[in-house]
Amino acid sequence: MTPQTSLDELIKKVGDLPPMPRVAQRALELIRDPKSDMGDVAKILAMDEAMASLVLRWANSAYYGLKFPVSTVNQAVTYLGYRTLHSLILAASVATLLERPVPGYALERGELWRHSIAVAAGARLIAADYGNQIAEEAYHAGLLCDIGKLALETLLRTTNINKPEWQGVPFEELEVSLFGVDHATLGAELARRWRLPSALVDAIAHHHQPSQASEGAILAAAVHLADASAMSLGIGLGKDGLQYIIDPQAVERMNWSEKKYNELADRIKPFVEEADEFIRLRRSNQ
Ligand SMILES: [Fe+2]
Repeated sequence: MTPQTSLDELIKKVGDLPPMPRVAQRALELIRDPKSDMGDVAKILAMDEAMASLVLRWANSAYYGLKFPVSTVNQAVTYLGYRTLHSLILAASVATLLERPVPGYALERGELWRHSIAVAAGARLIAADYGNQIAEEAYHAGLLCDIGKLALETLLRTTNINKPEWQGVPFEELEVSLFGVDHATLGAELARRWRLPSALVDAIAHHHQPSQASEGAILAAAVHLADASAMSLGIGLGKDGLQYIIDPQAVERMNWSEKKYNELADRIKPFVEEADEFIRLRRSNQ
């Protein structure tokens, strides 16, 4: 692999990245289609029992603060709205991709999934001041920000990254030196091919350097800070977590502080616990 390798060639060469699960494709279609209705949502949830039960559990979590528990799709749509429900379905439907072991990044099975949920939940909380729509988009961006790792990790497995000259170098720079592309760019390319909105693609591409983002600048800053927080909490740390450089412009843009970090740490815990429970449920059904 040389730095000259094009994105296209790289995506072809790492062709063992599993295709988007059908249920996730349907979830993405729903998110793109403002005319989707209850019947579409119910059909998706009927495709996977474990997913349906997770979505309803999440809907009942403290984050949404519902006065009464919801137990049907109908109630969930009524109380949470389509946008939120779509996010929950998207998260549950990409679990099969994200829960794979990622040995190239030293992530055991389930760790990337836990990390992605922590970042998604964290990014949504950080972006909440910008309104519900941006907050949900931040959730999507956080969920998918590291999906490019699935494609690069097979190359990393056979690469010695412990050379002295690479100590302390941000991991994204290392990826570019080794493969000509980092996981953020590769993930953004996958998101573009999945026809996700351009702000989301931009945010995924720049989640490690959010000051370089344009239309997805707020999303990228929220994901970046949530990502750094999850890493510092040891959630999905992997090989790259110890070389995480926080962008000071993101700190300024989102008015980030130690107090907010501590609050975030407490508030994302239940989401990570649910993510673990979901994996346990899936495995016991296998
Ligand atoms: Fe990343």
